[in-house]
Amino acid sequence: MKISILYYSRTGHTREMAESVAEGARTVSGIEVGLFPLDAIDRDFLSESKAVFFGTPTYLASTCWQWKKWFDEPAPCPLAGKLGAVFATANFVQGGADIAIQTLLTHMLVKGMLVYSGGGACGMPYIHLGAVALGEKLEESKPLFRIFGERVARKAMEIFPAKRD
Ligand SMILES: Cc1cc2nc3c(=O)[nH]c(=O)nc-3n(C[C@H](O)[C@H](O)[C@H](O)COP(=O)(O)O)c2cc1C
Repeated sequence: MKISILYYSRTGHTREMAESVAEGARTVSGIEVGLFPLDAIDRDFLSESKAVFFGTPTYLASTCWQWKKWFDEPAPCPLAGKLGAVFATANFVQGGADIAIQTLLTHMLVKGMLVYSGGGACGMPYIHLGAVALGEKLEESKPLFRIFGERVARKAMEIFPAKRD
């Protein structure tokens, strides 16, 4: 099963965390990960993906405008029915990363996606809306981002079981 991890990153933080999400997703048997920056998304891979992660830096306590623009324009392929999850980076605990995540989740719902975070149901570490890392603590956040990637990939395998011939 293909999973796309899409991210926007100007100074590398979100890209670094996208790589951790990818590492976690790859631990799930049967998952093939495609990792793409916003300006180099492989349309065919995205189209074939059952799940899509979006990674965003926090800009002015919200999603970066580059993702807003992407969602405002026609998607490169239908997103409806795909499982979606979001992660964000920010500089400050109070900097609005949860709002950045929630804004993207809203865009995804409008496109007809199914959204997932694991919430409290997966136990510790709790990831209520999506994974968040602060700029100065990227390294220590990587295990959580790997767990996030794995949880979402497992959920994708669960809700999109492989077809048998
Ligand atoms: C235009 C702009 C606005 C930002 N606004 C916020 C903000 O509101 N809250 C915050 O915590 N960090 C803010 N930041 C910091 C970035 O979210 C943070 O450095 C992020 O990790 C950068 O991701 P990147 O390295 O992937 O580009 C802002 C950065 C920029 C460039």
